[in-house]
Amino acid sequence: MDFITSILNTIGSGATAYILASRLRDPQTRPNTLAGFQMAESGAVPFLTKLAARATAEGDTWLAEKLTIHAADEQRHGQIFAHGLKQLGKEVKTAAEMKQQSENKSNQAKNSSPFFSKFYRGYEPEALKAENIDWLVFMASTYILEFDASKDFARMATALPMMS
Ligand SMILES: [Fe+2]
Repeated sequence: MDFITSILNTIGSGATAYILASRLRDPQTRPNTLAGFQMAESGAVPFLTKLAARATAEGDTWLAEKLTIHAADEQRHGQIFAHGLKQLGKEVKTAAEMKQQSENKSNQAKNSSPFFSKFYRGYEPEALKAENIDWLVFMASTYILEFDASKDFARMATALPMMS
């Protein structure tokens, strides 16, 4: 990453964290924000589980183990946001409902996400499926996405008052 890109990344990431923190702080937007986090975290579990199975099939037990741990982490993160939603008296989607929802709008949702279409510019959706994705593409993109997200969550945590 060059210097300008690095600055833009920091500004962009800070702005994202600020917007998300203010959405969490606002009782009107908090449930949808938490639901978005829950869906993003829990929604990654089937993908990571498929990747773990693929790694096992390819004989890479180390990678399969790491992917299984990652899937369990995402599952747990989803449960944390589900707990937050329950505390607000909101209904929490089950994994099956989420899977159904994501299957219903799989292609258009993925293709219409401006962030992901830019992030994976040049890749066909088919090439990004768990069955096909190049391991290096997966690892590099996961590293970047998770690293940025961890910074966003850390910023949001410091920007937020204690939630009831
Ligand atoms: Fe997560």
